[in-house]
Amino acid sequence: MRDLLPPTVAVAVAGSDDWAGELLAAEQACLGERAVQTRRRDFTAGRICARRAMAGLGLPPAAVPAAADRAPVWPAGVVGSITHTTGYCAAAAARSTDVRSVGMDAEQHREVNAGVRRLVLLPEEEETCARLPGGISWPVVLFSAKETVYKVWYPVVGSWLDFHDARLELDPEAGTFTARIAPARVDAAAVADPPATISGRFVVADGLVRTAAVLPLR
Ligand SMILES: CC(C)(COP(=O)(O)OP(=O)(O)OC[C@H]1O[C@@H](n2cnc3c(N)ncnc32)[C@H](O)[C@@H]1OP(=O)(O)O)[C@@H](O)C(=O)NCCC(=O)NCCS
Repeated sequence: MRDLLPPTVAVAVAGSDDWAGELLAAEQACLGERAVQTRRRDFTAGRICARRAMAGLGLPPAAVPAAADRAPVWPAGVVGSITHTTGYCAAAAARSTDVRSVGMDAEQHREVNAGVRRLVLLPEEEETCARLPGGISWPVVLFSAKETVYKVWYPVVGSWLDFHDARLELDPEAGTFTARIAPARVDAAAVADPPATISGRFVVADGLVRTAAVLPLR
């Protein structure tokens, strides 16, 4: 993930001990006592990575609880993002004086069925995937990029985006993508200067698709 984000964003990737690390009280309260073990381990690794990323910015340890809508609640003055998938977890954090929002996502690199493709891809994106070089499951790259886009969008705008609300263009050689957000969603946003486009980077390696994006300051 480090290479996908600018130097103003601190990134931490979980090591093997982090999945069984210690939560702070405010985080434990969000998770509850009844969370299944896999959920507990994912949530914990995310919080350990979040704290390590914040330490990378020179910030003291602070809780990152979850809001009722499941979005992470970063300390004042910090923006960030968390992702986990089987065997991998990472978090990114930045000062809100450096970037407006940050998002990241990791997915297993695998084929996806036609039903998932229809849910995630616009018809023209499906055509693009068919034209791109072989050896990469492009629908997963687009899926991950759209989840990253959502994680950038939501903390700024606070509203839902459907998978078909972002039209993605990929540059497979540069490892970059740009999402154009549906004008109706941008026009309906109840914030000043909502993002109409969100650009990021992707990499496919080690059995994973990783995507990340930042929204620059206005
Ligand atoms: C929220 C969502 C993007 C998470 O992605 P995921 O692949 O399921 O899971 P990941 O492990 O990558 O990310 C989970 C983390 O996302 C973060 N997250 C959850 N909701 C979030 C939100 N609304 N905004 C920002 N981050 C959010 C949390 O930190 C969560 O981890 P935690 O519960 O341990 O704290 C996904 O569940 C979702 O709701 N997608 C539908 C919306 C969407 O992606 N639309 C596409 C628009 S183009």
